[in-house]
Amino acid sequence: MKLRIFVTRKLDDSVIAPLREKFDVRMWESESESVPRDILLKEAAEADALWTVLADSVDRELFEIAPKLKVVSNLAVGYNNIDLEVAKERGVIVTNTPGVLTETTADLTFGLLLATARRLMEAENDIRTGNWTSWSPMGYTGMDVGGATLGIIGMGRIGEAVARRAKGFDMRVLYHNRSRKMDAEVEHGFEYVELDTLLKSVDYVVILAPYTPETAGLIGARELGMMKKTAVVINVARGGIVDETALYEALKNGDIWAAGLDVFATEPVPQDNPLLTLPNVTVLPHIGSASIKTRIEMMNLNAQAIMDVLEGREPANRVV
Ligand code: GLV
Repeated sequence: MKLRIFVTRKLDDSVIAPLREKFDVRMWESESESVPRDILLKEAAEADALWTVLADSVDRELFEIAPKLKVVSNLAVGYNNIDLEVAKERGVIVTNTPGVLTETTADLTFGLLLATARRLMEAENDIRTGNWTSWSPMGYTGMDVGGATLGIIGMGRIGEAVARRAKGFDMRVLYHNRSRKMDAEVEHGFEYVELDTLLKSVDYVVILAPYTPETAGLIGARELGMMKKTAVVINVARGGIVDETALYEALKNGDIWAAGLDVFATEPVPQDNPLLTLPNVTVLPHIGSASIKTRIEMMNLNAQAIMDVLEGREPANRVV
């Protein structure tokens, strides 16, 4: 009997083929829709390995009905969708895909920052909908990025890659993180500051922290209230780090200037999310790591990790 792998999203044959040679690979056959919970649970009950995406909740209920499960490999660097405590308790290995997505996600972060600061989506939309009536002296005017001050909350690999890009725009870079990054401070002049100091001082607040109990709701009404009225908030980490109701109020009342969001508390974003009614919000459908090369590299890491665990080797990128 071959060991069984369940893949929760349709993936390209080229990345699945090496697994198919050795294992019984079953797959949810949709690329764009999440596997329904009842099917996920049914498949997990028989699976030795799960290859998941961040929309799948791998929680206690799932672990408890999956007695054969040996590994969960998540197609993401984040793993807040997986209950690591229960995984540990049950001796299930969890792996993720760090490193290969760093530069790609930093590119997207900077692109979203520029798009939000310079109102690119709003301007493009006006052309497409026939609303560009004439060139206007103050039409579509936004905020300068070059020479401004950037504040990064969560200075991991992606944070540092964003900060390096900012130096090319002559930006001053402040950061807040659980630990100091002395090498980056010395080499690039990035400045460590307390969170409140960062919030008060910068023109762009970029959120890149992992989603944990400590960072859930980290940016709420108090924090938004400390920012400059001209501040732009960029969230490319997880929606739950920002209190969306407080963000909506701050944007509507002009307490901050704009926000660029690649992530939301609920994804896909419900059409009635009030943030979608505001012109000063730029929204993207969680595409930080979405380059062809990077997504393939992420998938190859998952495939290798699953193969390693099922064949008795220690996998790379083990979270627990
Ligand atoms: C995407 O959000 C990831 O965690 O890779």
